[in-house]
Amino acid sequence: MTGGAGFVGSHLCERLSKNQNYEVYSLDNYFTGSESNHVPNVTYIKGDTKDIATLITFSPNMVYHLGEYSRVEQSFDDMEKVWDYNKDGTFAVLEFVRKVGCKILYAGSSTKFGDGGLGRSASPYAWTKATNTELVMNYGAWYNVPYAITYFYNVYGPREIASGKYATLIALFKEKMKNKESLTIVSPGTQKRNFTHIDDIIDGLVLVGENGYGDEFGIGSPDAYTILEIAQMFDGKIKMLPERKGNRMVADVVTCKTEALGWKPTRTIQEYIEEQRKNNWK
Ligand SMILES: NC(=O)c1ccc[n+]([C@@H]2O[C@H](COP(=O)([O-])OP(=O)(O)OC[C@H]3O[C@@H](n4cnc5c(N)ncnc54)[C@H](O)[C@@H]3O)[C@@H](O)[C@H]2O)c1
Repeated sequence: MTGGAGFVGSHLCERLSKNQNYEVYSLDNYFTGSESNHVPNVTYIKGDTKDIATLITFSPNMVYHLGEYSRVEQSFDDMEKVWDYNKDGTFAVLEFVRKVGCKILYAGSSTKFGDGGLGRSASPYAWTKATNTELVMNYGAWYNVPYAITYFYNVYGPREIASGKYATLIALFKEKMKNKESLTIVSPGTQKRNFTHIDDIIDGLVLVGENGYGDEFGIGSPDAYTILEIAQMFDGKIKMLPERKGNRMVADVVTCKTEALGWKPTRTIQEYIEEQRKNNWK
């Protein structure tokens, strides 16, 4: 797995390493990943995906490729990293799986389906993710590389980054509730998101990794809420921030192929927020 020390990757490492038939290795450069996300029975290798060919000296049966730059609005300021991690890195990973002859699961982003398709070019992040899905498909067509492409929708849950430049919304709101601070909402606040619990994401990833082939394995909750509605669920004070580039309004949820493999979401964002409230936002 690439990105095994990150938010989603660490949960996937945890789930896969419980399967006695699997040996799990993580390749991570610790850009947003952290050693505190390490789980037992996984071998952690430190380095960039662009160097995968020299860092991974064995032939895996499967590569879960999650290790990329993964923030939307921040990607405008981080273009060099976005290119390095998402274009150079993913090219090297594709060359690696082509030469090894193994399957790749690519963690695509639902930003590709944002605003009727306009979302795909709305930010450096979205564009690199969308064009990478095409490159993965082309490696399938040109070189018979077996692949599956998943699309996550705003993942939340334990190990989300809660503070600093790379924090994600649900963990950030939880942190602000704990510190009795206002919840900051990027204007207009009516942008909708399909917040999806990490356990549902991992259920989908395992199913698609084992049984899915091809594109459009969306893994997302069917329930869309505006950011204002989410803030109201937290019941905190609200502070509006100016609009930012790259911030899509809606995205289509394309889960039918994942559902056909037996996936269905089991968690809701309301329940999660209530659990966090009962736990005093700890
Ligand atoms: N979290 C979401 O809501 C969401 C939604 C859609 C898609 N995704 C995709 O899922 C994947 C995982 O996202 P996440 O939320 O866990 O993010 P994350 O930032 O927590 O995890 C990414 C991990 O990859 C590592 N990494 C980044 N570039 C690397 C490189 N070039 N070489 C090696 N390691 C590298 C980081 O250090 C980090 O550990 C990403 O590809 C992301 O684009 C996430």
